This record gives sequence, C-alpha cells and structure tokens, in this order.
Amino acid sequence: MAVTLPRLHPGQRAVWDEPCRFKVLASGRRWGKTMLGSLACVHAGASGGRAWWVAPSYKMAQVGWRAVARLGRQVPGAVIRQGDLMVRFPGGGTVQVRSADDPQSLRGEGLSLAVMDECAFMSEAAWTEALRPALSDRLGGALFISTPKGRNWFWRLFQRGQDDSEPDWQSWTFPTVANPYIAPGEIEAARRDLPERIFQQEYEALFLDDAGGVFRRVLEAATLQPQGPAAGRQYVIGVDWGKSNDFTVLTVMDVGAREMVYLDRFNQIDSAGQRGRLQALYERYKPDCIMAENNSMGEPIIEQLQRDNLPVRGFQTTNATKAVIVEALALAFEQGSIKILSDPTLVSELQAYEMDRTPSGLVRYSAPEGMHDDTVMSLALAWAAANTRTQVEYAPSLYADPAPEPETARERDASVHSDSPLHRRWAKRHFCQQCYDEQGGDN
Ligand SMILES: Nc1ncnc2c1ncn2[C@@H]1O[C@H](COP(=O)(O)OP(=O)(O)O)[C@@H](O)[C@H]1O
Ligand SMILES: [Mg+2]
Repeated sequence: MAVTLPRLHPGQRAVWDEPCRFKVLASGRRWGKTMLGSLACVHAGASGGRAWWVAPSYKMAQVGWRAVARLGRQVPGAVIRQGDLMVRFPGGGTVQVRSADDPQSLRGEGLSLAVMDECAFMSEAAWTEALRPALSDRLGGALFISTPKGRNWFWRLFQRGQDDSEPDWQSWTFPTVANPYIAPGEIEAARRDLPERIFQQEYEALFLDDAGGVFRRVLEAATLQPQGPAAGRQYVIGVDWGKSNDFTVLTVMDVGAREMVYLDRFNQIDSAGQRGRLQALYERYKPDCIMAENNSMGEPIIEQLQRDNLPVRGFQTTNATKAVIVEALALAFEQGSIKILSDPTLVSELQAYEMDRTPSGLVRYSAPEGMHDDTVMSLALAWAAANTRTQVEYAPSLYADPAPEPETARERDASVHSDSPLHRRWAKRHFCQQCYDEQGGDN
C-alpha cells in the first residue's frame, strides 16, 4: 500500500532500519521519539499487524493518540475510532493506544508490536508481566522510547542493547540537537539557563547516576561567616514562613557582592512573633526588597508588613514559579557566582534537595521525604530578590496570580504564560506548549 508519511530524520532512520526485535531509544526532549514511535505503530497496523502504543498515564496516552490518529488518517480506508483510541486498517491491522497506569488494560495477546512511550516513567511490571507475554504468539517486537530518568529499569534495558551477546536487543542514545527540526539556538539557550545536570538528562539524554541532586559545588560556595550591616551596601531578604512543625527562615543577601550575610531560622512562633522578627531584621539591614512566600500563612503577615511600609513582595509558589527560582539558584552555585554562610543546616538541606520529573515533562523540586527545605527556599527567594534589583528582566506575573497546581504540561504553561522576557526564556527551555502553539506549532 503506497502511503506518504513524514520523512524520518537521520537518527530516526537509523533506529527504523535496524532489523532487531527489541529496540531501546533514549533521547532528549523533542528529539522526535513520539513521531518515530507513532510511525512504527501505523506502519505495523497498515501492514496487517496488531500494534499497541502504551503511555505511562491516561493524559500521556492522549498525546500518543493524537500522533497515531494524525498519521493513521493518511492511510486510505483507515477507520479512526476515537472512543476506543483505535485505528483499524483495511487489511485488518490495528493500532490501539493504552495507558500503563491501569495494568488490567494491558492484558491482551497476539501483538506484533508494542511501543512504550516515555517508558522510564512506567513500572517495569508493565513490560515484564503484561507486554512481554503478549508478544509471544506472533514473535512481536518492542520499541522502548524515553528520556532517561536516572539509572532505573529503562537504563538496564539500554545496557542490554549495548551488549553484543544479546543480538535481539539494540539501543541508541541521541541528544535533542540531533533533531534537525528544532532550532539549535533554543537548545543553546536551554544550556545557558539550566543547571548542568538537568540539561544533561533532559537534552543530552544522559543516564545520571544520582539523578535527583539539584545543587552542586555547595561546599565551595559555603565559606562565609555572618556579617552585620555595612554602610553603603544594598541588601535584600528572602522569607520562607514556617507552618506547624517546620521553620521560618530569613536570609539576608548583599546584592552587589552576591553574598549571603545573615540567616535567621526559628520555629514555634506565632504570626505576630514572625512579623516582629522580620521587622527587627529590616530595621537592622534596611533591605530594599523583601521577597516572601505568599501562602496562606504568609499572606496576612505580608499585608500587615506592607501597611507598615516595609518593601515586601509576595511570591506565589507554584511548581512552575518554584522551578524558575530554584534553577536560577542552582545555576549560581554551578557558576560559582554566589557565596553563602558555612551553616550546617543550610549546607545539608542544599545537598539533599531533589528534583523529580513527571512524564509530561513537569519538573518538581522538593526536600527528600522527612527533611526540610526551608533554608533552601528562603535562599532561593533572596537570590531571586537580588536578581530583581540588578536585572531589568523581571516578570511580575510570576510573582502574582494565585493559580492551582497544574497537572499537565499544558496547564502548567497556561498558568505561567506571559509576554515577559523572563517567561520567554523559561518557555524556551521548557518548550512552553502555549508559546509553541502560538507560533503555529504542528499540534
Ligand atoms: N521526521 C520529522 N519530520 C518533521 N518534523 C519532525 C520529525 N521528527 C520530529 N519532528 C518534529 O519535532 C518535534 C518533536 O517531535 P516529538 O516526536 O514530539 O519529540 P519527542 O517525543 O522526542 O519529545 C515536533 O514538532 C515534531 O513534529
Ligand atoms: Mg514524546
């Protein structure tokens, strides 16, 4: 059957042409994994086979379905069954889209091809218990595609593909830049703006051994002793409010020197006590900006301080705004452009701080289970405040608008989308879907 389908780029072509049964493809974001995998499914279905596209979640399955349906439509006589997420081809072949978060839905038999999209985010059991047995009657093949997520089972499969004694297995790794349809300038902008390890994992598709760690070279930066106010210096303060059993942390930074000069960390004080302590610090250092988290705890305190004419700005924490300030801080440590106090709590909270990523590409930052991150957040806010005093680039929208926590990449993008330069920089490295759509993206 003659069908005109998109031309593969050279990396995709290399994977496509390889005849082995099990293919493992690790690549950077937007390299063209979904394009290649959906083409493989449609090709199998149009040739009379039964193919499954398996995604880590229902929402991700919708992304795969759009890609499969778009290509399926181009095959004459194909019937698109939106309700079943299924395409049926004239020769009897089919492609079905499934989600691995419901293991029951992965029961089946007689598959000629299983494509697992972003499989580093699925459980290994989806493969070993459900999909592998389903390939047995037809000696079907499998294509595993994902950005890496540390050294989990996807990494082990990748190793198998590198092993000469496993002729059925082959593996490849490609950076995002190997997609000729992505402007290299965008990737270079991401390299400049992102902490090195995040760039390495997300764009260079490296399997990092401890993928979680966010801040590097912490000890090199932690050399200072607390300093009192000095004449002619410009200061800012970052504030993370303590809730019931964690700490309120106030961090004072010298803007010009890019140095932390003071840390105040305390708990079990009511809101009047917290306000008093901040007011005292204000009187001492006379900062020209106080960046304070604007959560339910902070909001009434901030309002009171503003009435008292303190230069307080509320910072609305969402996943996306937190990512912006945490990544800026991580970059400062990597580049050696910040100096902090050699305070044991601060150093250990920085060293333990983690990142995780959901399959939709949403990065989440937090302290490990059972640990605090108050000193980290307070420092990140102080660093953000210091940057607003020295850079023209500043996006007020990132510090306002309470928004519910976004669940998908698109919701996240919509919640922070703005026309500011800071947003455009952020959008480039995270590929904000809304900016992409506005530029006439192909979705
Ligand atoms: N062979 C190709 N021809 C044209 N555009 C492509 C090709 N492969 C990928 N693209 C484009 O590159 C972008 C990223 O592709 P996608 O498959 O979504 O990447 P990934 O799944 O790796 O994130 C999309 O805009 C897609 O249309
Ligand atoms: Mg994809």
